[in-house]
Amino acid sequence: MAKQAELGKSGLYVNPVGLGTNAVGGHNLYNHLDEEQGKDLVRTAIDNGINFLDTAFIYGPKRSEELVGEVVKESGKRDEIVLATKGAQKFVDGKEVMDNSPEFLRQSVEESLHRLQTEYIDLYYIHFPDEETPKDKAVAALQELKEEGKIRSIGVSNFSIEQLKEANKDGHVDVYQGNYNLIQREAEEDFLPYCKENNISFIPFFPLAAGILAGKYTSDMTFDDLRADFPHLQGEEFKNNLAKVDKLRPIAESKGVDVVHVVLAWYLTRDAIDVLIPGAKRSEQVLDNLKTLDVALTDDEVAHIDRVFR
Ligand SMILES: NC(=O)c1ccc[n+]([C@@H]2O[C@H](COP(=O)([O-])OP(=O)(O)OC[C@H]3O[C@@H](n4cnc5c(N)ncnc54)[C@H](OP(=O)(O)O)[C@@H]3O)[C@@H](O)[C@H]2O)c1
Repeated sequence: MAKQAELGKSGLYVNPVGLGTNAVGGHNLYNHLDEEQGKDLVRTAIDNGINFLDTAFIYGPKRSEELVGEVVKESGKRDEIVLATKGAQKFVDGKEVMDNSPEFLRQSVEESLHRLQTEYIDLYYIHFPDEETPKDKAVAALQELKEEGKIRSIGVSNFSIEQLKEANKDGHVDVYQGNYNLIQREAEEDFLPYCKENNISFIPFFPLAAGILAGKYTSDMTFDDLRADFPHLQGEEFKNNLAKVDKLRPIAESKGVDVVHVVLAWYLTRDAIDVLIPGAKRSEQVLDNLKTLDVALTDDEVAHIDRVFR
């Protein structure tokens, strides 16, 4: 079994390679998703030692939680799995609005429990900040739910560093989930040091920068889903990023792995990053990403990768 990493100070331990499931039933994010294929990749994860699954109300909406919940239930391994989900969004007159109020968070947790077909959620995140609720009050509401046994640890995501500090006033935050990958490294300035100092696990989302860092994209590719909005996947910037990815190939070849494994292994050398949740669209990608656990990077390689993308 892979060495397990603790999520913050939660007492929950997971395989450092988890699974992001926004492409499992995330019909509002990706076109043409096949739900059976999505369920299969969750099954593959569970069958191969991945015990950390990341979903959210808004993936679908609702559908990712439902599908992940179905597969976890059918696996009969609920107690071996660390199930993470997120909430904050609601729809008012068809428009998405953020709500971090204690009442709404409580209602969201109850609804997620129902969709996930479970009695507890291992890690519950406030997915996005609202503008009204003081963040320590929002987290206090989650702390109450934790004391009631409905959730087991607390996370926040997409908060500013000030909001994270406010949320963590009483030291209750275990995980911060934020945008971070070799191409988008702003979190190194403040989030990573703050998380390290406060024993919060920083979980990078978009670790593969939505796919390009997996090393399989070519310059003639175009996108018709959420990737169409990302500047790093368009025009000159896309070409420059592909050239940087190419510079990782010799390291990958010398270790008998692919670029994707080198990239994922590099994150695990960062202070405060203990766990990854690469997304996947097919079971083979889930299996492939597990090879990351066999990659050991030397200090020189870590520094070289740092320089290539700096
Ligand atoms: N908190 C937040 O606001 C937030 C925001 C975004 C994401 N997330 C979470 O973070 C997770 C990860 O983000 P993400 O899935 O959007 O992006 P990502 O991990 O950067 O990229 C995932 C994509 O890379 C490709 N890929 C993965 N493994 C591969 C492999 N071994 N070989 C080749 N290609 C591979 C797949 O796309 P292709 O096959 O199409 O190339 C896959 O969908 C999500 O699933 C979600 O749970 C959270």
